[in-house]
Amino acid sequence: MTTTDGLFISFEGIDGAGKSTHIDGLAQAFRAQGRAVTLTREPGGTALAEKLRIMVLNDPMDAMTEALLVFAARRDHLQQCIEPALARGDVVLCDRFTDATFAYQGGGRGFDLQLLSIMEQWVQAVRGPEVGFIRQPDLTVWFDLPAEIAAQRLAGARTPDKFEAQPVEFFRRVSDGYLNRMTASPARFARIAADNTRDAVWLDVLQAVQIKGWLP
Ligand code: TMP
Repeated sequence: MTTTDGLFISFEGIDGAGKSTHIDGLAQAFRAQGRAVTLTREPGGTALAEKLRIMVLNDPMDAMTEALLVFAARRDHLQQCIEPALARGDVVLCDRFTDATFAYQGGGRGFDLQLLSIMEQWVQAVRGPEVGFIRQPDLTVWFDLPAEIAAQRLAGARTPDKFEAQPVEFFRRVSDGYLNRMTASPARFARIAADNTRDAVWLDVLQAVQIKGWLP
């Protein structure tokens, strides 16, 4: 890989898993190497997708509506932000991507995984002059935290949104959803034990990127 190759890294985990500081840390580490970094999130990352985010996180709706809205937000985010950034050679650090849909709408809500796969194929299709492919992260860092610990961390932290207010069983199913995604694409995933100290978690995150040869 040369420094002009774009790099797409996503970060996943149940609410309360503690991704944010480590995403910022990685952004700094890449910038220190002279790389341009696009720091973004889902649902969100564009003006339209941020509007959809507010609806998805706050308005009651059925699981299919939720899935369609997060994929609509993702389509806009890919078109307007992620694909142009990768074409420029940026490192794209994205707080959640499609694995979250399989985990939350698929695992948590029990929505049809085959339908999610079909939406994934539509929304993430990239058509070049010679080939077409389905865009996926080059690496997905999964902050794996037992649902009970996440619930303790979240308790009283702030006014919960629609997902944060879910019971612990919901988050157990979300975790199972992540595990199934990792099992289907093991080479793409780095599973981090997020119940360690912040320093230990950071070292694991850094190592996951260093092993790929993307940071010294
Ligand atoms: P955040 O608080 O980590 O920004 O996450 C936003 C919430 O949206 C989080 O509870 C997970 C949820 N979510 C889905 O349900 N489906 C998705 O596809 C994505 C990206 C997020």
